[in-house]
Amino acid sequence: MPASRVGQANLVVVANRLPIMRVDDETGNSKWVTSPGGLVAALMPAMADFDGVAWLGWTGEQTEYTPDAFDHEGIRLIPVPLTDDERELHYDGMSNGTLWPLYHGKIEPPEFHRHWFEGYRRVNRRFAEAAAAAAAPGALVWVHDYQLQLVPGMLRALRPDLRIGYFLHIPFPSLELYCQLPWRNELTLGMLGADLLGFQAPSDAANFHQLARALGLATRFGPSALEFQDRPVQVRAFPIGIDYHRYEQAATDHDILDRARSLRAQLGQPQIVMLGVDRLDYTKGIDVRLRAFKELLAEDRLHPSQVSMIQIAEPSRDKVEAYVSLRERVERLVGEINGDFGRVGYPVVHYIHRTQSFQELLAMYRAADVMLVTPFRDGMNLVAKEYVASRLEESGVLVLSEFAGAAHQLKEALLVNPFDIDGVKSAIVAAATMSPEEARRRMRSMRRSVARHDAVGWAASFLEALRS
Ligand code: G6P
Repeated sequence: MPASRVGQANLVVVANRLPIMRVDDETGNSKWVTSPGGLVAALMPAMADFDGVAWLGWTGEQTEYTPDAFDHEGIRLIPVPLTDDERELHYDGMSNGTLWPLYHGKIEPPEFHRHWFEGYRRVNRRFAEAAAAAAAPGALVWVHDYQLQLVPGMLRALRPDLRIGYFLHIPFPSLELYCQLPWRNELTLGMLGADLLGFQAPSDAANFHQLARALGLATRFGPSALEFQDRPVQVRAFPIGIDYHRYEQAATDHDILDRARSLRAQLGQPQIVMLGVDRLDYTKGIDVRLRAFKELLAEDRLHPSQVSMIQIAEPSRDKVEAYVSLRERVERLVGEINGDFGRVGYPVVHYIHRTQSFQELLAMYRAADVMLVTPFRDGMNLVAKEYVASRLEESGVLVLSEFAGAAHQLKEALLVNPFDIDGVKSAIVAAATMSPEEARRRMRSMRRSVARHDAVGWAASFLEALRS
């Protein structure tokens, strides 16, 4: 390989998004700050072990505003420019119009368009080429998520000297669902380019193991590995965690405690504060919990003077039709509930369609007696873990969907089937009326689990497995 093609980084992270966002400072100039996402916090400690770390990704902005590579907090950030057209085909189209709904069990119908896949392939190639140019000889490359499924295979063809890992943050579907993809072989071969494939849950890993064999692309090499082109590919679960200590520590902050108290006062000091925090996404079951809440109020099983709900719905993927119609559905339901049960100055549901700061979220976790996490399907769901980490006094009840990856670890939550509205209603009532002793016993056990499986341990164990 010509020397000019080989880079300096001994660890290269390849993710659709760079871990930064542009904000305006006091003088009105824009600057880049680290985004609040968990991935960068998880990787930071592990990155310290590497001499030269690069992170490749999209800035979320148009090509003309895409900067050249620059250093940020010890990481070489390499922006991958995408044109509007490419963003439409790769991000809105194939990633969020095909793979996202399919992998989440077709809650919304996926669309299959050849031009979307061509755009996806083109963008994946750009990422693979940029990774190949950034990596030092024999470097580790860690590719993330469904937007970049072809990258491991493309990268191996360019740089067979690299150790390549791939982690899927979302569920991996069953054989029957996945096989609907017209490009199932190419997408599977893309993943098989890695040395290590990581999934959120053992069932996701098992689905991939079965698929690769069923398509006749790889053979069994033990229960957690495949053989592909005379080389082993490890296939394992690495359930992702959060930066537990950051949440635990922030939860003791006086400003945050004050804010939590003032939130409850602003709500009119209800006995029970319920909270939902999600991206506005149809997989999250926001409409389910609103419908359950509405029926409970109508049946007098909850009373509007005693209970208040806050629902944060962060704007997301608003160029994709299914997200636009979800927003209409959710906002109609919020309007109906407040119209039927609210009073002047006291709506029952407080709905916020904006991104919240870390501090504000923390204050909400501190203020909430009941946390509602009811996705139809979710790879993990870190909000559930964040709530648990923030409950220092071991009070508070988590209502959690069985179909979130987090349910494998948070067995002491009130587990619900989000497709069973009566079951969700019963769990909400059980949460609102649970004795403090029982809540404490459950919360204590969940806190231990979240602390034990934190983000830093997750990144370290993946990289350790990739290295060996
Ligand atoms: C999920 C995906 C991530 C994605 C995030 C936010 O967690 O697994 O890959 O970055 O949603 O979605 P967005 O489309 O805004 O990047």
